[in-house]
Amino acid sequence: MKTIHALLAAALGALALAAPAAAADRSPEPHQFSFDGPFGSYDRAAVQRGFQVYMEVCSACHGMEHMRFRHLGDRGGPFEEVPIGGEMVRFDNPNDNPVVMAIAAEYMIDGEPDEFGDVNERPRIPADPFPYPYDNVQQGRAANAGAYPPDLSVITKARYGGAEYIRSLMLGYDYEPPADLELRAGNYYNPYMYGSVIAMPPQLQDGLISYEDGTEATAEQMAEDVAHFFAWASDPHMESRKSMGLMVMIYLIILAGLLFATYRQVWSKIEH
Ligand code: HEC
Repeated sequence: MKTIHALLAAALGALALAAPAAAADRSPEPHQFSFDGPFGSYDRAAVQRGFQVYMEVCSACHGMEHMRFRHLGDRGGPFEEVPIGGEMVRFDNPNDNPVVMAIAAEYMIDGEPDEFGDVNERPRIPADPFPYPYDNVQQGRAANAGAYPPDLSVITKARYGGAEYIRSLMLGYDYEPPADLELRAGNYYNPYMYGSVIAMPPQLQDGLISYEDGTEATAEQMAEDVAHFFAWASDPHMESRKSMGLMVMIYLIILAGLLFATYRQVWSKIEH
């Protein structure tokens, strides 16, 4: 018996030693987002602001390969309804949405070859993808001291903590690193990152951009908005899924009531 205990203790000790010391030093900070909970929905204005932060700051290093400009105008998207002549107008087809068209047209892409075989640039249309910062992974690594900035299309689904993690990570550069930590050049201490060291320089400082809707662009506000935008991009159909779930629950409650009434009716004539 004693030997078994000793063996177990040794095995546990070995496990503890072998466990990677890589986990993050802090868990994502809890934060209330409008889309939390069974009835939560996206805040369109926050998603629009987050899109602006992504385009003006993050897209210099991070791509979103699953995104097309038309997604911005899809049902539930941030630009589904746009102001035209002082009124909010809803477009069923995002390819006809003038705001989505204008946003897409700000970015150029290689067009089809012309009659001489030359490829000329043309403005993007809603059906085109978001611009990608690199031609290949090697180029991305070379530009970032060896660390590839991951694609952010579905990042809130790909990380524990989702939007709360993104928000915490973006605001997580002000902690004092442990005394025994040696940081290589181009690496930063960020206790929310897996391993607590990240190769992304701090991005957000107060006043970095100026929001189109006039909101004050504090670091806190931008971190929250960009996390909101990624949550929408990772799960654009969340709202219709939740409302479908609600309809199903109502249907089941009515059905349960009907079944109970039927049961009473059927058994009312039988002695029991
Ligand atoms: C100057 C280039 C650069 C910019 C600009 C940039 N990043 Fe990064 N980012 C990186 C690099 C490099 C990594 C990879 C870090 C690593 O693996 O250590 C990274 C990693 C990340 C990660 C993944 C962390 C993880 O858990 O693996 C997220 C999320 C992220 N960045 C969000 C953002 C957001 C949001 C913005 C805009 C506000 C932004 N980044 C702007 C370079 C950049």
